[in-house]
Amino acid sequence: MINGKKIRLRHAERADLPHFVRWLNTPDTRQYLDAIYPFSQIEEEQWFDNLLKNREAYLNFFVIETLETNEIVGTLGLHEVNQRNRWTELGIMIGDSANQNKGYGSDALRTLLRFAFEELNLNRVQLRVNDDNLRGIHVYKRCGFVHEGTLRQNLWKHGRYHDVHIMAVLRSEWK
Ligand SMILES: CC(C)(COP(=O)(O)OP(=O)(O)OC[C@H]1O[C@@H](n2cnc3c(N)ncnc32)[C@H](O)[C@@H]1OP(=O)(O)O)[C@@H](O)C(=O)NCCC(=O)NCCS
Repeated sequence: MINGKKIRLRHAERADLPHFVRWLNTPDTRQYLDAIYPFSQIEEEQWFDNLLKNREAYLNFFVIETLETNEIVGTLGLHEVNQRNRWTELGIMIGDSANQNKGYGSDALRTLLRFAFEELNLNRVQLRVNDDNLRGIHVYKRCGFVHEGTLRQNLWKHGRYHDVHIMAVLRSEWK
């Protein structure tokens, strides 16, 4: 387990999948994700089977669980770990709106940054965030992510193009 102050990061189990499906079909959550079609249990099971075939991908995908109640509240995954250049790109979701704005996302990000820099010896952690995700941008800045650039009209959603921002933390800044 990788413990933060309010949450721990642990690896995913098959029993977690129904939570993922529910969250990915929750409008308030999915509107900020790259999600077009509804998600189904069978599709999620296929995704999980594929994840298990790639050990590194599996190891770098975490479930966020509260320390106080052991409730599963979200996921945090490293999409890619670039070994030569020592960077990774992450994606995070706190799934139920009832669990958002409780500090779990910020704590999970800080915990992941510590793990990435101190244990994985990475030099850079980056992410992409849609221009309308004001909560996400606020949280990322608070955790030390710096806006580096904007992919203009990079995403078509709800009948219009959205800009997508690239944000990152370097190990030197994080220290
Ligand atoms: C974005 C997300 C990871 C943040 O995690 P979280 O646990 O909800 O966030 P926290 O509780 O740590 O912090 C929330 C902060 O955002 C602020 N906030 C909430 N809504 C806001 C808004 N519309 N605009 C600006 N700030 C906002 C809160 O006031 C709080 O800041 P404060 O502590 O300074 O008052 C989570 O909400 C989430 O997963 N959302 C849905 C999916 C998503 O957006 N994923 C990320 C895709 S890039």
